[in-house]
Parts: sequence; structure tokens; C-alpha cells
Amino acid sequence: MVACGTSWHAGLIAEYIFEELCRIPVEVEYASEFRYRNPVIYKGDVIIAISQSGETADTIVAIEKAKEQGAFIFGVVNVVGSSIARISNAGAYTHAGPEIGVASTKAFTAQLVVLTLIALKLGKEKNTINEDRYVHLINELHNIPEKVKEVLLLNNEIKKLAEKHKNSKDALYLGRGYNFPVALEGALKLKEISYIHAEGYAAAEMKHGPIALVDENLPVVFVATKDSYHEKIISNIQEIKARKGKVIAVISQGDETIPKMSEDVMIVPEADELVAPMLSVIPLQLFAYHIGVVKGCDVDKPRNLAKSVTVE
Ligand code: M6R
Repeated sequence: MVACGTSWHAGLIAEYIFEELCRIPVEVEYASEFRYRNPVIYKGDVIIAISQSGETADTIVAIEKAKEQGAFIFGVVNVVGSSIARISNAGAYTHAGPEIGVASTKAFTAQLVVLTLIALKLGKEKNTINEDRYVHLINELHNIPEKVKEVLLLNNEIKKLAEKHKNSKDALYLGRGYNFPVALEGALKLKEISYIHAEGYAAAEMKHGPIALVDENLPVVFVATKDSYHEKIISNIQEIKARKGKVIAVISQGDETIPKMSEDVMIVPEADELVAPMLSVIPLQLFAYHIGVVKGCDVDKPRNLAKSVTVE
């Protein structure tokens, strides 16, 4: 998979999903790195190029390079008729509708849905997913819109949280498994629309460096919905608490443990861990949005950024 920015984060989540449901090895590359490397590509390998705009220069060149080496290009693109849609051998549009704000939000959700559908179809064809799991995941996808509506009801609560944290200089975002890329995405959103420095990290990796940053002034945002990593992330929260970090956590309804360890929580409906990122990312988008607004930033057009990065 090749992509940039938020689309790259969608690819990272899809990597876990593809490996889980289809048992196909997946590499996710920044298009800007891939284009200058000497990647090992065999004829018939599939490159999934993920792009909202379909015009990102690095992704276009990465596709061209992979094509020269015999790869089959499958585009997952939002803008109909865009360059990437045209140069791909096949593809699926995400049809999220025009995304106007520079910070990608709904396109990310749509990318996750489309990539999950592809993985489900492949898993079914390859017989790597059983019928019950298949039906369960399809139902989970059907339930996402209603659950998204519930998450959006957190808006006012998150606005207050933004007010509280608007003067932070830095923030650390942590997650594990399917929620690790969500932590990266939450940090990216905060940086780009509120200009607060934020770092996203795999929660267990923090002890290899970032934990040195933790003190009583650092908000640490955990993406900790109920999944197979839950006990592990609770230990990571304890590690932050022990160093007096301010824990803010995105958790699932019914979680009685993490609220006792957190300064603030944002509660989302329970969902299968494969689709949970579609919900857990939304409070982080709202948090970044409200901090940006309260700080007087132009959240639609953040400084130094363009909606489509058509230059190298
Ligand atoms: O149009 P693309 O998906 O190819 O764009 C990739 C990135 O430029 C884009 O996701 C960027 O990171 C966004 N501003 C993030 O919100």
C-alpha cells in the first residue's frame, strides 16, 4: 500500500485488517519514500494506492514506478476522474463526497470502510475468514453510521475539553493494534489545525524514549477502546499515571476501569476491534477542531498546507 498523510494512516490500519482476514502479507509505505527506494516488486504484485484527492504527486510517481516493474495498481480514491483514478489498473472510489477542509476527516472513514470491504471480499474468496465472522463484520459495518451519530453527540463535552487543554504546548497520543494508527492520526489532526505539537506513538514503544517527555503538564491521549489489547493498554496508562501525566482516554461504553485512571474520558459505543477506528478517530478530530477554533486558527485552511499536495 502506498499513500501519504492521513491516507497512509488508513493504510496502516488496513495492513492489520488484510493480514488478519486474508493472511496476505502487506507493506505500507510512504509514497515519498517508496518512489526513491529500490523496492522488491514482482510481476503481479498488487499495489493499493490510497488517496483522497487522487492528485498527490508522490503517490502518482510511486504508482508509475511500481507499474514499470509489473505491479497491478488498485486505486482507493475519493475524487472521481482524478489522476490516480485514471492511472490505476482498477480501483474503488470511496465516494465520501467533496472534502473541502484541508484536514482529512470523512475521507479517512470512507477509506477504512472501502479497505475493510476489500479485505472481507478477499478473505471470503481465499477462505481465510469463516462465515460467522464475515457476517458479524458486515453487520458491524452496517451499524457504524448509527454509532457515528452517537459519537457526534460528544461534541459539547469535547468542546469543554478543548477549552481546558487549549494552552498545552505538546501532547502525546498513544494506541495499540488497530488503534495505534488512530493515535498517529489524532496527533496529525491536532498539529495541522491547532498548531500544537503532538506526537503519535505505539503505546508500548513509549518506554523506549517518549516516556521521558511525561510530566504533570503533558496531556497524554490514549486511544483505548475495548479490544484484544485492552489489558496491555491499561498497563501503559498506569505507567503514564505513575509519572503524573494528564491522561485523556477514548474508551468504550461500559469500561469501568479506565475512567478511574483518567482525568478525562471520551466514551464511544462498543464495536469489533476491526471497525473500532472508524469511531475512535472522531473524538480526536473534534478535539483538534475545537482547540483550533478556540485558539482562533483557520481550521479549514491551516497555514502552510494545501488540500492536494501536487508538488514533490
Ligand atoms: O489526497 P491524499 O489523500 O493523497 O492526501 C494525502 C495527504 O496530503 C493528506 O492526507 C494530508 O496529510 C491531510 N492534510 C491530513 O489531514
